[in-house]
Amino acid sequence: MGDQYYHPVLRGKKNNSICAMLVIMILVVLSVENCRAARFERWESAIRMPTDKDEYSDQDKELSTRWAVLVAGSSGYGNYRHQADVCHAYQLLRKGGVKEENIVVFMYDDIAMHGLNPRPGIIINHPQGDDVYAGVPKDYTGQYVTTENLYAVLLGDKKAVKGGSGKVVDSKPNDRIFLYYSDHGGPGVLGMPNMPFLYAMDFVEVLKKKHASGTYKEMIIYVEACESGSIFEGIMPRDMNIYVTTASNAQENSWGTYCPGMEPSPPPEYITCLGDLYSVAWMEDSETHNLKRETIKQQYETVKKRTANANDFTAGSHVMEYGNKSIKGEKLYLYQGFDPATLNFPPNDPNKLDMRMEVVNQRDAELFFMWQMYKRTESRNKKREILNQIKEATRHRTHLDKSIELIGSLLYGPQKGSLVLNSVRSPGQPLVDDWACLKSMVKSFESHCGSLTQYGMKHMRAFANICNSGVSVASMEEAALAVCSGHDVGQWHPSNGGFSA
Ligand SMILES: *[C@@H]1O[C@H](CO)[C@@H](O)[C@H](O)[C@H]1NC(C)=O
Repeated sequence: MGDQYYHPVLRGKKNNSICAMLVIMILVVLSVENCRAARFERWESAIRMPTDKDEYSDQDKELSTRWAVLVAGSSGYGNYRHQADVCHAYQLLRKGGVKEENIVVFMYDDIAMHGLNPRPGIIINHPQGDDVYAGVPKDYTGQYVTTENLYAVLLGDKKAVKGGSGKVVDSKPNDRIFLYYSDHGGPGVLGMPNMPFLYAMDFVEVLKKKHASGTYKEMIIYVEACESGSIFEGIMPRDMNIYVTTASNAQENSWGTYCPGMEPSPPPEYITCLGDLYSVAWMEDSETHNLKRETIKQQYETVKKRTANANDFTAGSHVMEYGNKSIKGEKLYLYQGFDPATLNFPPNDPNKLDMRMEVVNQRDAELFFMWQMYKRTESRNKKREILNQIKEATRHRTHLDKSIELIGSLLYGPQKGSLVLNSVRSPGQPLVDDWACLKSMVKSFESHCGSLTQYGMKHMRAFANICNSGVSVASMEEAALAVCSGHDVGQWHPSNGGFSA
């Protein structure tokens, strides 16, 4: 059963030695090129630096502040990578001089001290990476990582926040805000370790409120999740001074990377993926460039290229952009700060971005992780237990898939069912016209058929299409009842997969 999860992975393991030689030769050539570029850059920067306009230079330091909100929307060791991404982002911003008091972190915080973590107290986001966990503030952890708290934090609404440090984005009209989110998602939704999901329209409404409050100058938002484009497609206004990029378009997966058994692979003691393709692409780009010179647009292009993974869209995704695209002409340091150590770093050579990374699709990463665990376990009892968990997980997946298919047949007839449920609206159109309807459909389904879970988020498009076709919630209710009556709606929780540390 492992094979299907290895899918884009085990290709091309032959000819390793020839490849290795080629790689070495290429590296030699590249490093020569690199030095040339660096020399040129040093020369150029000596000329240009004094005239670079620094909006955060001493004189107006007090007038504007950089804010950041970092969100890891999952929990469980199998989702190590999302929290690793977010911790890494925190370190990067701190190195850039963004103040701790201006960075709000949402992470479940069950990774560093997890019993499966081979380096207790340490989280890495790259195979050779340093610890990114130390010093990350525990603003909102565990049960406080919620959609409601995220909204309250963004709106600077201290009173609405429940639990946590109480830190909020108390921004002023001249401030800039950077929001980064890494997690599972589905059409129109992003995950949270505590229910409910984040629904796209609610999120955009919060952004509208923030804009109406006049408490920021500009904002950029980076989102990594499956179908993350669907969070903004057709509903993100252009006139709110917000620029957004997402890891994938509205109907494709995003990808985990640095996974066991893949290239590049994590240290052998890790049985979980360390990062996500789009996320490591932007962070590794930020770390290796002078952000007083690199524009948001340049980063977007670099990340787009790397996330396309050598244009293999069975193992990569289309990075999308939304909102006000004029903002991307700005320099990145306005949001991510500037690390003096990067002063003389050369700009990107676009030809070097064809690097291919082996990846696992976000939705299968959980099973992939369980399978890694199965393979590494020696005890026969433990092996049996893990196998049962894998069976249980796949059984629940099949149950969800089947139930939705059957509901489609009941509502539209056996021929039209899957056609309606799987139809994709043309680009620029929102997933659904009536977002309240979408929520009701999901609620009705879950009450009869059980929790959608992380995996089931992929079916959000089916529910959206049911709404778009004009089916009433009452009809949906009947269909779900018919299909799932007798189903035990007891919750199977994939985010921790039932593994105790
Ligand atoms: C987009 O941003 C630019 C730069 O801040 C601004 O001049 C322009 O008015 C904005 N466009 C809209 C539609 O708000």
